[in-house]
Amino acid sequence: MLRAAVLTVSDRSSEGIRPDASGPALIQMARSLAWQVVATAVCPDDEVRIREQLVEWADNDIADVILTTGGTGLAPRDVTPEATQSVITRPIPGIPEAMRAASLKKTPNAMLSRGIAGVRARALIINLPGSPRAAVENLEAVAAALEHAVSKIQGDLSDCA
Ligand code: MTE
Repeated sequence: MLRAAVLTVSDRSSEGIRPDASGPALIQMARSLAWQVVATAVCPDDEVRIREQLVEWADNDIADVILTTGGTGLAPRDVTPEATQSVITRPIPGIPEAMRAASLKKTPNAMLSRGIAGVRARALIINLPGSPRAAVENLEAVAAALEHAVSKIQGDLSDCA
């Protein structure tokens, strides 16, 4: 069973101006995949705060998969990819490639998400867009490969089928 942590990145949600909808949507989806949701948090669109939360969860082996939602777009305060880039040790470009390829079939705006994915310690970090629907659609596009990804990140040396 994968252990998942969900970080909602949103100035408005962190200030209590707008309820966090994408975090709960991802929690629901994670549970439907039979993953265990071990941690959730909401933080502002602030590179340092995002980085601190990702490092805390990854370096303390809190979760196998860390999902962020929000801050991947083009607005001046969208910095989730930059914060993630600064903490990962290995990028996994195929994950955002697959998310954008699948999402482009739903909306041309999919190309505007700059989300990335990569490894830190034993954790797989994945950036998802901020709307609940977009977050779920993007996770749906890659979910089937994530257990295998995590087992490889965490040292499974068996041959891939
Ligand atoms: N991907 C899917 N599957 N569905 C969507 O509705 N919205 C896009 C894109 N990815 C969308 C999507 C839009 S409109 C934007 S601006 C970017 O994600 C970035 O979103 P974010 O800034 O909330 O992270």
